[in-house]
Amino acid sequence: MPLVSSTPLLQTARANGYCIGAFNVHTLEMLQAVVEAAEETESPLIIQSTVGTVKHLGADYIAAAATVAANTNKVPIALHLDHCTEFETIVQCIRAGYTSVMIDASHHPFEENVRQTKQVVELAKAIGINVEAELGKVGGVEDEIVVAENEALMADPNECAEFVERTGVPTLAPAIGTAHGIYKGEPKIDFDRIDRIAKLVDVPLVLHGGSGIPEAQVRRAVSLGMAKMNVATELRIVFSDTIKDVFAKHPDENDPRKYMVPAKQALKAAAIEKMRLCGCIGKARDFR
Ligand code: 13P
Repeated sequence: MPLVSSTPLLQTARANGYCIGAFNVHTLEMLQAVVEAAEETESPLIIQSTVGTVKHLGADYIAAAATVAANTNKVPIALHLDHCTEFETIVQCIRAGYTSVMIDASHHPFEENVRQTKQVVELAKAIGINVEAELGKVGGVEDEIVVAENEALMADPNECAEFVERTGVPTLAPAIGTAHGIYKGEPKIDFDRIDRIAKLVDVPLVLHGGSGIPEAQVRRAVSLGMAKMNVATELRIVFSDTIKDVFAKHPDENDPRKYMVPAKQALKAAAIEKMRLCGCIGKARDFR
């Protein structure tokens, strides 16, 4: 089947108490690895690229590879643009075939976040694709977006309700204590806040900063309404470390297949582990 909008995937996940893994990829092999992980485990899949990767590979190349993946596999696959602050890049990705976009105007005051999100929601609605927006500020480093620890800000539950109501955004990423990158110690997730937000907002919620969250915390967040978990850093590390290992043993290796194939296998295994935490293994059957 062609690439699908992530809206129905995430609504089904939230309604049934599981979460869908959304994986940031930077190369063709990374994309193939998460697709193989999904197909092998019958998991619905969201492939993501950051704006930096769109600039690096090109939206058309990414969308073409994701379209081939969707057309040649049985699981439903959506292609999402992660953390985008530029309207032009959103339009470029939608034109290329992305089926979900994140407008991240969380660094602006509330009213400006509402305005920008509404603009993207109107565009996306007309085409039938998903939109994600952020409230509060998720700390850490995600590609070109850097939020210092002391600038990170939790989302206010009442503002979340007002935001969803006024923008019509179909998925919301509220900042609830997770951060992008690897945690020093355990993340301090505010579960009570997730619960309060989920009681006021019925759209699927998105858990950012999925690298390094302990299993029990992921499961608790999912049970409260988190329906999408973004994972980037851990996948980059496993992919790069595997390549470093190959070169440590074979410093003169010059056949990219000799390091890309093991890196792809390692990434695939890491993605399957995240799918297990999310509880989405076997859930592709919900969409047949
Ligand atoms: P991590 O890099 O911490 O996995 O976070 C990913 C993310 O939230 C992308 O939006």
